Amino acid sequence: MTPASAHPVPSTLQAVCFDAPGGPDVLHLATLPIPQPGRGEVLVRVMAAGVNRPDLMQRQGLYPPPPGANPRLGLEIAGEVAACGAPLAGQTMPAIGSRVCALANGGGYAEYCLVPAGQCLPWPKDFTAVQAAALPETYFTVWSNLFMPNLPATGSRVLIHGGASGIGTTAIQLVKAFGGQAFVTAGSAEKCALCTQLGAKAINYREEDFAEQIKTLTDGKGVNFILDMIGGAYLERNLKSLSQDGRLVIIALQGGAKAEKADLARIMTRRLIVTGSTLRARDATAKTLIARQLQEHVWPLLAAGQIRPLIHATYPLADAAAAHQALEEGNHSGKIVLITPYGASAQG
Ligand SMILES: NC(=O)c1ccc[n+]([C@@H]2O[C@H](COP(=O)([O-])OP(=O)(O)OC[C@H]3O[C@@H](n4cnc5c(N)ncnc54)[C@H](OP(=O)(O)O)[C@@H]3O)[C@@H](O)[C@H]2O)c1
Repeated sequence: MTPASAHPVPSTLQAVCFDAPGGPDVLHLATLPIPQPGRGEVLVRVMAAGVNRPDLMQRQGLYPPPPGANPRLGLEIAGEVAACGAPLAGQTMPAIGSRVCALANGGGYAEYCLVPAGQCLPWPKDFTAVQAAALPETYFTVWSNLFMPNLPATGSRVLIHGGASGIGTTAIQLVKAFGGQAFVTAGSAEKCALCTQLGAKAINYREEDFAEQIKTLTDGKGVNFILDMIGGAYLERNLKSLSQDGRLVIIALQGGAKAEKADLARIMTRRLIVTGSTLRARDATAKTLIARQLQEHVWPLLAAGQIRPLIHATYPLADAAAAHQALEEGNHSGKIVLITPYGASAQG
C-alpha cells in the first residue's frame, strides 16, 4: 500500500448499513474499520455517491449482491484517491490525492470506499462532486447496452422506456450525441417536457399506447433499438415497435419477468435480437473495458459540456433513508445523490 494522501486516513469510517431488508427506515449509519486496498485496488475518500434503483431493490432484499462484492449499498462514487494497493501487471494506479469518479462493487454510501483501479475514470473538468458521482452507474449501463461492441446504436432510432429516469436522461443524451433520435416513454406531462428538452420525442405512457405512437412517429418503420426497464408487461408492444433487425435490450423488470402473450413470430420475420444484462454481475475485466471505452468516446463530450448528468436532488449521507424514499416515490427526474461530510466541506 502506498503512503497516505495529504489527508491522513483514519482507522474507521461511517457507512450506511441495514441489518435486515425493509423500507427506507432500515438504513442507518454504522462505524466500520477502514479497508486496506489490495492489488489493483484504490481507496477513495468519498465526496458524493449516486443513488440508483438497484440500491432500493437491494435494500428490499430483491437484488442480492453477487458473490465477492461488497454487501453494502452504493454503486458509484466521486472523491479523492486516499491510498492505492500494488498495481496489477501493466496497470497505472491513479495518483494519491487525485480526484476520480468510479463504478463501485458496492459500499459507495460511505466516507471511504474500495474500488478496482480499472473502474475509475477521470473527474470531468469543472464538474462538482455531485455531478461526477452521478455518472458511472448510468453511463456504464447505457454505454454497454447500446454502444458496445462497435457503437451499434450510432445514428439509430432508439426507444428508451423511463425517459426521465437516471438511466433515461443519460440514454437520451448519448443517443443524440451519437447522431441518433431518441423516443421515450414517461409518466407525466412534466417528465415528457423534460425529455423533449433533452432532444427526445416523448410519449406519455399513461395516456397513449406507445407502440401506436412509435408507429406514427417513425412513419411505420419502427425503432432500431429499445432500452427497456419494464420487461414482461411491455414485451409484446416492444416486439411490435422494432424495425427489421431491431434489438430489444432488457435491463430491468419493473413490469414483471413473465410476459402473458408475445407474438414470437415477429422475432423470426423481422430477425429481431432480444437480449439484456445486469451491470453489477459483470466481472472486473468487462467493467474495465466499459470504463476505457467511456473514457475514449464519452468523457470528451462531458468535458466539452455537450452532455451533462441531470441532478434532481442531493441529501447528506446520514439522510440516505430520505433519498431512498424520494426515489421510491418516483417524482424525480434524473439523479439523486448523497453528499458525505467531506464532500460538503470540500465544496464549501
Ligand atoms: N441492468 C442493469 O445493469 C441496470 C443498471 C442500472 C439500473 N437498472 C434499472 O434501470 C431502471 C432505471 O434505473 P434508475 O436508477 O435510473 O431509476 P429511476 O430513476 O427510479 O427510474 C425508474 C423509472 O421507471 C419508469 N417507469 C416505471 N414504470 C414505467 C412504465 N410502465 N413505463 C415506462 N416507464 C416506467 C419511471 O418513469 P415514470 O416516473 O415516468 O413513470 C422512472 O423514470 C431501474 O429499473 C433499474 O433497476 C438496470
